Amino acid sequence: MPSSSTMPRVCILAGSPRKNGNTASLLRLFSEELEKRGTAVEYIRLHEKKITPCIACRTCQNVADAFGCPFDDDMQSVFLSVRAADCVVPATPIYSWYCTGPMKAALDRLVYGMNKYYGEIKGLSLWEGKTVALFTTCGYRIETGTGPFRTGMINYCRHSKLKYAGMFAARDRGYGVPFMTGEKAAGAVEFAAQIHSRLTGPDKDAEPISVLVE
Ligand SMILES: Cc1cc2nc3c(=O)[nH]c(=O)nc-3n(C[C@H](O)[C@H](O)[C@H](O)COP(=O)(O)O)c2cc1C
Repeated sequence: MPSSSTMPRVCILAGSPRKNGNTASLLRLFSEELEKRGTAVEYIRLHEKKITPCIACRTCQNVADAFGCPFDDDMQSVFLSVRAADCVVPATPIYSWYCTGPMKAALDRLVYGMNKYYGEIKGLSLWEGKTVALFTTCGYRIETGTGPFRTGMINYCRHSKLKYAGMFAARDRGYGVPFMTGEKAAGAVEFAAQIHSRLTGPDKDAEPISVLVE
């Protein structure tokens, strides 16, 4: 669907290695509902991209108004997609109490390239005011499984001057138990509806949204 100036733009950073896995199956419903409501969605599969981990060279810190990262890899285009979006959705299965490797590499590259805090430029966030909505699946109970990632990302948002809009989480009850349920599907759709109204409605600074399906 073409984007217009009034249409909110959501950039989904999909962090699972499994193209049709648990997170992807719910993201599909989430993304379809956003589009149905008039949101432009860009879906980026991080495992299909070359994203080199940050090496803390700090070159980006002295480049105002651009990413400034010297690595010529796919993170350059991810940066532009994130910068063009109103809302970024880091979507990841929980791996070792946090996110997957490519998601962590992307988050690290963005937290330096987007925030010019440690060079000659002071306190400049290139993504200030954008909305962030987390989308996760995990194996443990949701509070235990997603807690460290959620806390880390709330701090990440505060540090980056981003608006934390909330989190969707669904639990994988283990190998041999079908993942998808009507409740999870409805939860993903409900989260999309709430994010859409957060992006378009008067409730821009409302409390974080929480849609958690055990
Ligand atoms: C390598 C690996 C590490 C995992 N670590 C955790 C973990 O720390 N906590 C948790 O709750 N679930 C963990 N899980 C379970 C996944 O988060 C869960 O199965 C998820 O739904 C998989 O999503 P996907 O099908 O989209 O990849 C792990 C799974 C794998 C493969």
